[in-house]
Amino acid sequence: MASRSCLYAFLLLLAFQSTVIKANTVVLPPQCRPVPAGTLARFEFLVNLIIAKAEFLLRSSNGTGIEDIAPGLVQGPVPTGATVANLDNATRAAIREFGLAGVGILRAIVDETLLRAPLPRPQLNFTAEVFNRILNLSGLTPPFNVYGSPTQFLLVTEPLVSSLQFYLAQFTPSIAGNALQQLAAGIGLTAAAQVGYFRTRLNAMVNSPVPPFTMTVANFTNTTATAVNQLGLCGVKNEGLIVPLSLGAENRTATNVVTADVNSLSPRRTEREVLRIAFGTGNATRPGGIFPSGLNGTLYRLIVALRQS
Ligand SMILES: *[C@@H]1O[C@H](CO)[C@@H](O)[C@H](O)[C@H]1NC(C)=O
Ligand SMILES: *[C@@H]1O[C@H](CO)[C@@H](O)[C@H](O)[C@H]1NC(C)=O
Ligand SMILES: *[C@@H]1O[C@H](CO)[C@@H](O)[C@H](O)[C@H]1NC(C)=O
Ligand SMILES: *[C@@H]1O[C@H](CO)[C@@H](O)[C@H](O)[C@H]1NC(C)=O
Ligand SMILES: *[C@@H]1O[C@H](CO)[C@@H](O)[C@H](O)[C@H]1NC(C)=O
Ligand SMILES: *[C@@H]1O[C@H](CO)[C@@H](O)[C@H](O)[C@H]1NC(C)=O
Ligand SMILES: *[C@@H]1O[C@H](CO)[C@@H](O)[C@H](O)[C@H]1NC(C)=O
Ligand SMILES: *[C@@H]1O[C@H](CO)[C@@H](O)[C@H](O)[C@H]1NC(C)=O
Ligand SMILES: *[C@@H]1O[C@H](CO)[C@@H](O)[C@H](O)[C@H]1NC(C)=O
Repeated sequence: MASRSCLYAFLLLLAFQSTVIKANTVVLPPQCRPVPAGTLARFEFLVNLIIAKAEFLLRSSNGTGIEDIAPGLVQGPVPTGATVANLDNATRAAIREFGLAGVGILRAIVDETLLRAPLPRPQLNFTAEVFNRILNLSGLTPPFNVYGSPTQFLLVTEPLVSSLQFYLAQFTPSIAGNALQQLAAGIGLTAAAQVGYFRTRLNAMVNSPVPPFTMTVANFTNTTATAVNQLGLCGVKNEGLIVPLSLGAENRTATNVVTADVNSLSPRRTEREVLRIAFGTGNATRPGGIFPSGLNGTLYRLIVALRQS
């Protein structure tokens, strides 16, 4: 009797689940599969990206770094290549705000996970040429300069913070435990809101040329998105602000303020895709670009050891 009611309960559960979650039969190509890892290892990986973002935004908006805001929170080689960008006051204030937000996020990670301060800071390279190589902006005359104007700054920052948002869309459901999943969701939604700021600013001048160039904002967003997608090796995820109808919401619009998949959901990127992009090498085990000496932590070392390029 007991075993029979057990069986009924089991069948009921199966029936219930099948109405909630439909079988997902999409098989990802090998280079797009996530590497199995535990929650702490994933946070350790994420810390590298949050540190990079906070250092870049603080240094480019204000000339300060994480250590100036929160002494003892991070420790490691001093980032190279950043200069204070030529920004208008409102943009500078917003960028500084996003940099400061990164400091708060790092503190929350120290408070809520088993990771301890000082968090290890990887070697970071914010030279303008590094961004140009990653985003296929080299070879313009005069050279494209992320630090040269508000628009150039937004054009570089948007695809990178978007890629971080897509990583957090992958990251959040992989985290075990309600409290840490809530932390992950909070980090991801903050990143998404910041991407909304970048793309809204750019969309307000979408058809204007970007001085001193003749290419428009739309053209540049298409160029940087295409470059990131080529490095990521997992299809079209980053998108320009004006797109073919096939990439627009419901295939009915060419405007594309918010980047999303065919069902208007946030795209997802794995650790390996993020590494291929941030390294600028298209190879998750060949460091370069923003992280010339690779990342800190066990998950990155595992990716290298397993040759998960
Ligand atoms: C950085 O921020 C501080 C505090 O608001 C301010 O005093 C300083 O002038 C800023 N530096 C730049 C380059 O904006
Ligand atoms: C921008 O900020 C600087 C320094 O805070 C100030 O001197 C200047 O008047 C501001 N410019 C505008 C247009 O508000
Ligand atoms: C983190 O990585 C950098 C190289 O990117 C290295 O210099 C530093 O020593 C590493 N820190 C730790 C704690 O491993
Ligand atoms: C880029 O610029 C050309 C010429 O202005 C235009 O025809 C094309 O549609 C643009 N491509 C985009 C928005 O990606
Ligand atoms: C890089 O940009 C150039 C010039 O805009 C373009 O011809 C080329 O296809 C782009 N390459 C990649 C990898 O996107
Ligand atoms: C870039 O623009 C071209 C031409 O309109 C289009 O085919 C392509 O899908 C766009 N790519 C992205 C990533 O927005
Ligand atoms: C939009 O077009 C894509 C192919 O380009 C297709 O996969 C998708 O189902 C279409 N979406 C709608 C709502 O028709
Ligand atoms: C990625 O880089 C590593 C280290 O340089 C190299 O051994 C490996 O062959 C590369 N993988 C691919 C697919 O190019
Ligand atoms: C940073 O990038 C620039 C430009 O590619 C390069 O010359 C420099 O050696 C790099 N610095 C580090 C520390 O990797």
